[in-house]
Amino acid sequence: MLKGRDLLEPMDFTTDELMELFKLADKIIENPENYSEACKGKLLATLFYEPSTRTRFSFEAAMLRLGGNVIGFSEANVSSVAKGESISDTIRTVACYVDMAVMRHPKEGAPIVAAACTDMPIINAGDGGHHHPTQTLTDLFTIWKEKGGFDNMTVGFCGDLKFGRTVHSLIKALSRYENVSFILISPEELVIPDYVRKEILIKEKIHFKEVENMQEALPILDILYMTRVQRERFFNEEDYVRLKDRYILDGAKMKLAKDDMMVLHPLPRVNEISVEVDEDPRALYFKQAKNGMFIRMALILSLLGIETQNETQEV
Ligand code: CP
Repeated sequence: MLKGRDLLEPMDFTTDELMELFKLADKIIENPENYSEACKGKLLATLFYEPSTRTRFSFEAAMLRLGGNVIGFSEANVSSVAKGESISDTIRTVACYVDMAVMRHPKEGAPIVAAACTDMPIINAGDGGHHHPTQTLTDLFTIWKEKGGFDNMTVGFCGDLKFGRTVHSLIKALSRYENVSFILISPEELVIPDYVRKEILIKEKIHFKEVENMQEALPILDILYMTRVQRERFFNEEDYVRLKDRYILDGAKMKLAKDDMMVLHPLPRVNEISVEVDEDPRALYFKQAKNGMFIRMALILSLLGIETQNETQEV
């Protein structure tokens, strides 16, 4: 049962609980009208201290499509945060008005602080370079829909593996499945953080390889997860400019890949996937963004403990 729980880190839910969410999201896709009033009278707060398009809009669209309502802010300086209010005071106040909250914050661990001062469900929508668990739900749901499962996959992560929170979260989540191996493609300056290498990959005895050359990896991948080099995480512009166009996936490189290799990207993209790749049936990143709304609908229903007639009839 997910009722009343938080989602702060990718491992907060068991693989069985994830499967329940995927099945519910699938039912919503099949019959959205059955869920259009499920959250009537419920209110979601979206507290975004950092910019977002997909995560904020997909949460807001999800709640509205479930018949609920949404309040919130999309930048910290339009709330009392600008006057110096702490996260815990903001959350304790917002909890007086709403049933659950989604928070994105530049500081790692901020949603954990938020969850500690309220009983309402808190969802981490990305904390600094740490985790982005609802992007992970989106990624896993897309893989499950396209491939039918997760076992025996060779997954390539390419780009900014140092600051890329979506990468850290997805590596952690995929490590729980059988015989998954990773090819980590990045320049030396943007390799995965030591805690991911030591505490997840080495500790869990996951097969992985760190390489700089994308072309060398492409022919063996089942999934290629591209990422943007994130200007906002760099301390100096010179390093960003030097590294930003290091990897560009284009039509010529796609010829090296398997016919059924999935290309995923959490988006936004800058230059790392050429627009010509968008027409390739293996390019699934916009489908992935759409799936994000449905899996967030399933998440909202589950954390609020709302069972529609569609579920109760089956029990
Ligand atoms: N994937 C993702 O988190 O996108 P946004 O930053 O637009 O929310």
